Amino acid sequence: MQIVRIYIETYGCTLNKADSAYMMMVLQRVGHTITDRLDDADVVIVNTCTVRKDTEDKVLARIKALNRIAKHKGFKLVVAGCMAKAQPYIILKNAPNASLVSPQNVSRIVEVVECSERKVLIDGERKDTSLVPIYFKDKTAAIPIAEGCLGNCSYCIVKIARGTLQSYPPKAIVEAVRKAVSNGVVEIQITAQDTAAYGRDIGYNLPRLLNDIVKVEGDFKVRVGMMNVNLALDFIDELIEVYKHPKIYKFLHIPVQSGDNRVLKLMNRKYTVEEYVEFVKEFKRRIPGIAIATDIIVGHPGEDEEAFNNTLKLVKELEFDRVHIAHYSIRPHTLSARLQQVPGNVKKERVLKLTRLVEEICSRKFREYVGKEVNVIFTEKSFRGDIVGRMENYYPVVVKGSSDILGLKGVVKVVDSSFYDLRGDIVKVSP
Ligand code: F3S
Repeated sequence: MQIVRIYIETYGCTLNKADSAYMMMVLQRVGHTITDRLDDADVVIVNTCTVRKDTEDKVLARIKALNRIAKHKGFKLVVAGCMAKAQPYIILKNAPNASLVSPQNVSRIVEVVECSERKVLIDGERKDTSLVPIYFKDKTAAIPIAEGCLGNCSYCIVKIARGTLQSYPPKAIVEAVRKAVSNGVVEIQITAQDTAAYGRDIGYNLPRLLNDIVKVEGDFKVRVGMMNVNLALDFIDELIEVYKHPKIYKFLHIPVQSGDNRVLKLMNRKYTVEEYVEFVKEFKRRIPGIAIATDIIVGHPGEDEEAFNNTLKLVKELEFDRVHIAHYSIRPHTLSARLQQVPGNVKKERVLKLTRLVEEICSRKFREYVGKEVNVIFTEKSFRGDIVGRMENYYPVVVKGSSDILGLKGVVKVVDSSFYDLRGDIVKVSP
């Protein structure tokens, strides 16, 4: 067999990163090598994301550039991921010789890499879930627990790319957690498009899975990924109970998307603002100090001034700890794309207004820690090379220090804050 050198570039969320990790694993298992230099590669894989229009543009520009480079360097170009499944025609227009692999077909990447012809594997809705991929970064590991979701949000192209819910078996997930922890990982990131949907296709659920995971031996914490409130409401009591476990970060990522019931209906979100508020308040009441992160789409079709003001009102009421703000952008093949659009300048103004409010609230909440000593676990390096520690509520505390402290616990004196993180000086490090 001829050994192939493969270079992989990954865009998008942790699910996609886990898919790249999975492809690397199966390719290396049969003897191929992964290189971090494009110049050395026989095959280049771009694992794509297409969640928003700006992401699509960025990824497409990269595919075009790689297509040009491939012509004189002679490597084979493979486009994998969500764009390959949801928009294959765009890729073929810009890189007609590229092979395509959808997220459901990543387990067949060896066939694609070894084939001398162009190959297109984008059919099929099911993924091989017998092996759970793990994406390692420093002392953290992202572990997907499910593919796809049970929703059908009107604006979402990811549904087209990732399909309906397919949960990984609980035993395989627990095994993956055990493996990560035995490799020195101290933070397990449980990830899915909707963690609250976990198990509905196999007669299991998220609280049961979390109860299994916390029983794994070792000193680690679990960060539970994004969950939708309509499904999480079904097991709120069990979820709160398991969240009390010391191995679970007191952090909840629960996208609201809009603070207006009419817009939520247009988005096909299947919950009301009142249900959302009740859920968050119940969590805050029973787990004091829990941090709440949310996602908001600004400028979805149908969002008038009144609806947008309702979103501002909700943000003020719930005082989120983190808000991911997305400027609505038209995604092909979605229902929202066919509705009357909000003008671009209006969207821009609203994004600015919401951003200012969020920054004000988050800065105030983060500032309360300045001057205090906080307990953290040092989990990863920041992109600037500093060390990031996580508090019990998953607030990030950035310190200067060497990589040797990664995986250890410590006490940090907070000296500064922004709306996004805390900065501090190390007081003590302990195993
Ligand atoms: Fe992007 Fe697909 Fe993730 S569209 S956000 S890579 S599920």
